Amino acid sequence: MKLSAQLGFLLVVMSITTPALFAQTNNPVPVLQIKADRVTARVSPTLYGLMTEEINYSYEGGLYGELVRSRTFKANRTNAVFWNVVGNGAISLDTNQPLNSALDVSLKLDTSKASKISPAGIANDGYWGIPIRPDTTYHASFYARGKGFTGPLTVALTSTNGETIFASAQVPKITKKWQKYELTLTTGGVAPSKDNRLVISTTKHGTIWFSQVSLFPPTYHNRPNGNRPDIMQLLADMQPEFLRFPGGNYLEGNTIGTRFNWKKTIGDISQRPGHLDDGWGYWSTDGLGLLEFLEWCEDLHMQPLLAVYAGYSMHQQHVTPGPDLAPYVQDTLDEIEYVTGDGTTKWGAQRAKDGHPAPFLLNYVEIGNEDFFDRSHSYDGRFAQFFDAIKAKYPNLQVIATTPVKSRVPDLVDEHYYRSQEDMEAHALDYDKRPRTGPKIFVGEWATRVGSPTPNMAGALGDAAWMTGMERNSDIVLMASYAPLFVNVSKLTGPDHSMQWRTDLIGYDALNSYGSPAYYAQKMFNTLHGNEILATDSQGIPTCSWQPPASRRAGVEQPRPAPQEVPSLFFDATRDRQSGTIYLKVVNRLGTPQPVKIEISGAPAVEAEGEAVVLKANSQDDTNSIQEPDKVVPVTEKVDGLGTDFTREFPPYSITVLELKTK
Ligand code: AHR
Repeated sequence: MKLSAQLGFLLVVMSITTPALFAQTNNPVPVLQIKADRVTARVSPTLYGLMTEEINYSYEGGLYGELVRSRTFKANRTNAVFWNVVGNGAISLDTNQPLNSALDVSLKLDTSKASKISPAGIANDGYWGIPIRPDTTYHASFYARGKGFTGPLTVALTSTNGETIFASAQVPKITKKWQKYELTLTTGGVAPSKDNRLVISTTKHGTIWFSQVSLFPPTYHNRPNGNRPDIMQLLADMQPEFLRFPGGNYLEGNTIGTRFNWKKTIGDISQRPGHLDDGWGYWSTDGLGLLEFLEWCEDLHMQPLLAVYAGYSMHQQHVTPGPDLAPYVQDTLDEIEYVTGDGTTKWGAQRAKDGHPAPFLLNYVEIGNEDFFDRSHSYDGRFAQFFDAIKAKYPNLQVIATTPVKSRVPDLVDEHYYRSQEDMEAHALDYDKRPRTGPKIFVGEWATRVGSPTPNMAGALGDAAWMTGMERNSDIVLMASYAPLFVNVSKLTGPDHSMQWRTDLIGYDALNSYGSPAYYAQKMFNTLHGNEILATDSQGIPTCSWQPPASRRAGVEQPRPAPQEVPSLFFDATRDRQSGTIYLKVVNRLGTPQPVKIEISGAPAVEAEGEAVVLKANSQDDTNSIQEPDKVVPVTEKVDGLGTDFTREFPPYSITVLELKTK
């Protein structure tokens, strides 16, 4: 875990274990003023987006549709991990019979002890299970070759104990040479379940080698090599404007050799070598590669925000600016050409060959990730080299720096914030005070880290407080994306755990998925806002006294900072210019109802009837889970008694978007 992450974690722990330090000190009835005749700026049309990387089994075992774990047998060089023997078979990894140079190890199965009553074979339990749904067609495929074996092979979806066979099909003949075999498996009217496996077996004797054994369920928009529909739908419901990919730490790798090397993530999946995601500790087949990221954007109508490897990896390996860095800069120019070039360009033609003739629209390129961790301080020079090369060829591209630089003026600078609830609230007004003279801001990673594996209502309240500040200041905060996005909640601790980061927006297991309260808070902010920011004012905002935790520097605990008065009510107002609807967002982080007087000036009239979308909980600890996915979800209610001057009581622990009609 990086220092920023560790610090964030420390603050979360402090805030969880010291709740008494956050005590309400006064409680006046607050007044909020909305000045409808004073538009301070337009709401950035790109404000709300997504950030993603391979962490917590986000893609493999998550969004990416593949159901077979370690389909290329490369997760471990010595053992066939995640594969089991069926019957009296014997399995081993074999580097002498590779499919090709990318998939340079195969799984050897000896079936010499197979019999009619005890077939021999291989089985895979997927990523903590294989989801079986009723009346569903699965697409299975594998490469195989036989020696003293000509078939048949039976491919089946069974329960883990083997007692139930949900679907099965046969490959009648296996040849001596490597060949791809494909078949479909269709289930009947069975109940959904996840304790299941894929089994490939035979009753005949011989030796069989396997490579790239794959199983796909139906995918979102039926894309081949596509994504899991339920998780895509959760994302689609957020209406995100952009996707920052491929990372995060996943972009950088611990070493230059384990970076996200985009050229190895394209083309037929059997030609992708995969790589160790050593930042997060597991293998990636790169089945979800550069083109799949772009198609994910296409499916959800998001702009790509392409983060490119910038010559720095987390174990302090860096490439010196100058000739040594030139190949990496060229890789980036090639990557941009792959995304945007037409068929007459080398890399545009490659993309067309890979199945996507139409170029993608690209406006944003980010140079690296969290380069403030680079202790060689080479980022200024590295950034300048990338910036100059990109601007020379693509002058309209917006180039994002990951930390402030002096050598060039970046179009945006990425800022990351992982904080406790109180800390997030204490900083919710920061951007109001930020000078308007510097580069624009991309808050590329942020989260209130309360609740695990997914944030609880306290996390959602901290997030919502922070979002009011970003939205109100979206003249400078042009883009923002929460992180991390996903977590597989199947095995949170112990060996082979599915979670590397403790607080993540969306959770799932093999069968089901859910949005956290923080997910719903974001969905409300993303989908309910106008296009212009209205000036606001307030009096009597209640505050709480908060003792910030002591920080550590170079392992030494620093003196405790002075206690702070932190607001406990947060708000902002935007208006849709066309319809005249004002969206007033109010966050009440207290455990008591909060009456608020609302005064609207500069609008001819406000209709008495409107609508409120409210996310609330009985306790800050309330949360959603696989078992209770809808415990904390927004509710839409009709509201009466609105006008240019009214009082409304905001429930305890609540986030409200009040829609006020002014036309
Ligand atoms: O979001 C988790 C990690 O936090 C990201 O990979 C990294 O950029 C940051 O340190």
